[in-house]
Amino acid sequence: MDDHADPPDDAEPPDPLVGRLLNDRYQVLARVGEGGMGYVYKARQEPIGRLVALKVLLQEVAENEQAVRRFLNEARIISQLRHPNTVSLIDFGHLEGTGQLFIAMEFLAGGQLRDLLDRGRIDPVAALRMTRQICQSLAEAHAKGIYHRDLKPENVLLDDVEGEQFVVKVVDFGIAKLNPALAGLEAGPLSIQLTAPGTRLGTPAYIPPEQAFGKAIDGRTDLYALGVLLYEMLTGHLPFKSDSEQGLFLEHLHTPPRPISEAAPDLAIDPAIERLTLQMLEKKPDDRPPSADAVIRTIDQILMRLAPPTEGPTPQGPVTLERARMVDAPTDDTPVTIQRSGPPGWFWAVLAVGLLAILAVAILR
Ligand SMILES: Nc1ncnc2c1ncn2[C@@H]1O[C@H](COP(=O)(O)OP(=O)(O)O)[C@@H](O)[C@H]1O
Ligand SMILES: [Mg+2]
Repeated sequence: MDDHADPPDDAEPPDPLVGRLLNDRYQVLARVGEGGMGYVYKARQEPIGRLVALKVLLQEVAENEQAVRRFLNEARIISQLRHPNTVSLIDFGHLEGTGQLFIAMEFLAGGQLRDLLDRGRIDPVAALRMTRQICQSLAEAHAKGIYHRDLKPENVLLDDVEGEQFVVKVVDFGIAKLNPALAGLEAGPLSIQLTAPGTRLGTPAYIPPEQAFGKAIDGRTDLYALGVLLYEMLTGHLPFKSDSEQGLFLEHLHTPPRPISEAAPDLAIDPAIERLTLQMLEKKPDDRPPSADAVIRTIDQILMRLAPPTEGPTPQGPVTLERARMVDAPTDDTPVTIQRSGPPGWFWAVLAVGLLAILAVAILR
């Protein structure tokens, strides 16, 4: 390092963990995320070389009982979840030296769903397939008595799977609620209330009415937040907007969302997709789809019609970048497409040989 190159006054000081080998096995490569309670780092697990995401609790909140409890809660919850659409836990413990708590998870290289949304709205078939994947994550969690309570595009990450296919994974179970009775666990210190009395959890733009007002929640609470997310994927806009937090809460509570056919008239939205989205956004949990599985069934019916499978009996193909391309950007008329490579060379060779063979047969007859 050049001792003479003083950083400008407003530059952030370098992160002390980046570049270090932690606990003799995690080589920290970069900081990739930050939240109120800690940072998330990309690291390489030595000596096997796999990439991991290390979520580290800030030293400043190490004494904060509630922060520690939430951190433990998150590790405990993801340790129980096995579904491939939920981020998987690798390790949990204290960093040697600083003593900070950390969670090591599989590293998801495709970025946040937020990054995709920032480029514009998402093709309805891709939006439905992503929603379906999130529902699968939720179905397992709900069956175990776990409710996420903070679904939003920043907490849905894309896994970079071999080129053009990808899966989405749900992360950030930091404020998830675990029902010890349903989860078959003893009510221990971790099931203590995760919030100080009177404080609210969640993100105002996505918060379900019953959560905003501190009422009882269940799986349908997550389906509401997912409804906001689906609406945003389809239209490029949030269903509710307000200058103030209080205003947003009131919108969630009282204002029916603008129909998708009005919010994005050029989309010519399929009526069944609109019905499903608005049903997920119903104010009363009883008026929403009853479960994540019910949403999956409805999505499958729609996909069967809009994107019938070319092979196999099920309509839920993988989400491909081609399908997930933006149909347009909300602020720009130019269509935005994600750069992707075309089919491999052998594909064209096989196609050409096939066409020639058909032509030869036609001529010879
Ligand atoms: N497993 C992961 N792989 C890659 N990046 C991740 C992973 N987990 C979290 N991140 C990044 O860090 C950000 C913050 O992580 P998150 O778990 O949501 O914590 P917070 O409670 O601070 O919101 C995520 O939005 C994402 O950008
Ligand atoms: Mg988050």
